Amino acid sequence: MAVTRTFSIIKPDATRRNLTGAVTKMLEEAGLRVVASKRIQMSEDQAKKFYEVHAERPFYGELVAFMTSGPVVVQVLEGEDAVKRNRDVMGATNPADAEEGTIRKAFAESIEANSVHGSDSDENAATEIAFFFSDDEIVG
Ligand code: CMP
Repeated sequence: MAVTRTFSIIKPDATRRNLTGAVTKMLEEAGLRVVASKRIQMSEDQAKKFYEVHAERPFYGELVAFMTSGPVVVQVLEGEDAVKRNRDVMGATNPADAEEGTIRKAFAESIEANSVHGSDSDENAATEIAFFFSDDEIVG
């Protein structure tokens, strides 16, 4: 299995509850290595652009408002089959459907305040990593 990278966001509901370390611990225990990390306040323009793919969805406006409601921690994660590994430990988008042992089962408050984002493909991971990080900020 190849070592690859994925992109993760620890969302405002988690940073607000001081869960950055607890979430990161679960990522690390799942075999992922944090090779870049920064805590930022996303601007409205950044959030709109990052979630552009959802622009036509009814929840787009609320999603942008939520993601700019407080600090987030953006991370690059590295590991074997990182995209799938991360999505497995994140759990289902809706915490009501998330399995035991996943981050969203443990921490998510709702489908919107669901504690973490993770890329859904290698291609999107590369795009999302480049959206927030320059190459020299990633140290593997
Ligand atoms: P994320 O992986 O960050 O990508 C898009 C986000 O939209 C998703 O996680 C959810 O947190 C959020 N969202 C809010 N409402 C919905 C909804 N009804 N269906 C799917 N995603 C939603």
